[in-house]
Amino acid sequence: MSADDLRGTVALVTGGAGGIGRAVVSRLARRGATVVVADVDRAGAEEVAADVGGRARCFDVASRREWDEAVGEIVTELGRLDRVVLNAGVMSRPRNVAIDAGDPLEWMSERYDIVRGVNLDGVAYGVLATVEELARHGGAIVVTASMSGLDPQRGDPTYSMTKAGVIALVRGLAPSLSTRGVRIGAVCPAGTDTPLIPPDVPRSEAALAPPDFVAEALERVLDLGPDEAGGIWVTLGVHDPLRRHEFPNVR
Ligand SMILES: NC(=O)c1ccc[n+]([C@@H]2O[C@H](COP(=O)([O-])OP(=O)(O)OC[C@H]3O[C@@H](n4cnc5c(N)ncnc54)[C@H](O)[C@@H]3O)[C@@H](O)[C@H]2O)c1
Repeated sequence: MSADDLRGTVALVTGGAGGIGRAVVSRLARRGATVVVADVDRAGAEEVAADVGGRARCFDVASRREWDEAVGEIVTELGRLDRVVLNAGVMSRPRNVAIDAGDPLEWMSERYDIVRGVNLDGVAYGVLATVEELARHGGAIVVTASMSGLDPQRGDPTYSMTKAGVIALVRGLAPSLSTRGVRIGAVCPAGTDTPLIPPDVPRSEAALAPPDFVAEALERVLDLGPDEAGGIWVTLGVHDPLRRHEFPNVR
C-alpha cells in the first residue's frame, strides 16, 4: 500500500461542510479514507458526506461533551481514527460588514465567547477527544490556523487572538503528542475564497486563494513525518505555496 493510499483509514474533518473543510474532505476521500464530515450545519454535512461516501456527524466543536460523544460513536461505528483536521472556525466580524468598516470592539463584546469557543476551545477539545485513539495507529492532526495568528487583523482582533492561541497550542503540544506517536501541525492560510470572507472582497485568485489550494496544504502537513511535528506552515496564495514559518528564538 503506498503512502498515498488511505483505504482502511478514517479521517475526521471539522467544518467539513464549508469551504476549506469541504475541499479537504474530498481530497482525503479520493485517496480512499472514510471521512467523517463534522459540522454544526447538519444538512451541509450530510450533503458533503453523501458526495464522498463518508459519514456526517452534526456537533458543536465548542462543546467538550459533544466532542467526546462524537468520537466515541465514530470509533464504535468505524473502528478507528487516523487523521483529524481541526478546521471549523468563525470570525467575530459579521459577514455583511465591509472589511474596513465597523467597530471590532462591538463585535468582540457580542461574539467573544462564540469565537473563542469555536476557534480555540474547538481545537483544544478536539485534541483531547481524539489523541488516545490516534495514538493507537500513529495518527496525525492538522489545525487550520490563519495568517491573522501571526499578523493580527485590526478588523478582527478576537479572531486573531484565537488563531495565535492555536499556533502556540500546536507548538507547545507537539513534543508530548510525539511521545505518543501522534503528529500535529498547523497551516496559516491567507485570504481564501469561502463564505467566511465578506462579499465586498474582490473574488480573484490574486486576492483570494481557492479553497482546494489550502486543502492541499492541510493534506500535505497531515502527511509529514515526525521530524516536522509542531511545524507552523504558511500558505499565502497560489504564487506562494507552503513554507514552514520560523519563529525567532526569544530566550
Ligand atoms: N477563508 C479564509 O480567508 C481563511 C483564512 C485563514 C484561515 N481560515 C480558517 O479556515 C477555516 C475554515 O474556514 P472557511 O474559510 O472554510 O469558512 P466557512 O465558513 O466556509 O467554513 C467553516 C465551517 O465551520 C462550520 N462551523 C462553524 N461553527 C462550528 C461549530 N461550532 N462546530 C462545528 N462546525 C462549525 C461552519 O458551519 C462551516 O461549515 C477556519 O478555521 C478559518 O478561520 C480561513
